[in-house]
Amino acid sequence: MHSSVTFLTDTAALAAYDAPHSTQGLNMKTNKFAIFAVVLWGVSALVFGWFFVKGNTTAIEGQRDAIVLQSAERELVLLEMRGLLISTQGILAGLDNKDMAQIAQAARASGMASAADVNPALMSKLPMSFKDLGMSVHHAMDEIA
Ligand code: HEM
Repeated sequence: MHSSVTFLTDTAALAAYDAPHSTQGLNMKTNKFAIFAVVLWGVSALVFGWFFVKGNTTAIEGQRDAIVLQSAERELVLLEMRGLLISTQGILAGLDNKDMAQIAQAARASGMASAADVNPALMSKLPMSFKDLGMSVHHAMDEIA
């Protein structure tokens, strides 16, 4: 009984006794941190996924959705639209001239390559339906080319 008390008050022995326990404590902390990191990653992926599908939109006039963009981003989308209009005009002019090279050149200018470097922040603000429509037009332009 007495020797048992002496054993517990002996600092060296106590440290030796504690060593495996403190490693276990560290492992528990590491585990909690890992679980927290995985949960945080999951939540971020969900939030990003939600924005990627829904975009940054607000309902107007009951049926329509306004896409909320910064003015530079809006300008970029409208610039792309004017590019599509120029391509369409080029394709029609090419048809009129029976010039296949002109048609191919005009269409290629609005193909997938023209949409390749749109920045991810803008992409996340555009709703999925808009991205689908936009991408199908760029694909169609490549097909025409
Ligand atoms: C060949 C196909 C297309 C052509 C020629 C075209 C052309 C245009 C033009 C000329 C504008 C006005 C640009 C300006 O104000 O400077 C415009 C605006 C717009 N386009 Fe397109 N577009 C096409 C396809 C699309 C597609 C596929 C979408 C949707 C995914 C789209 C959505 C819009 C929107 C939201 C606007 C802005 C309307 C506003 O001012 O609120 N367009 N488009």
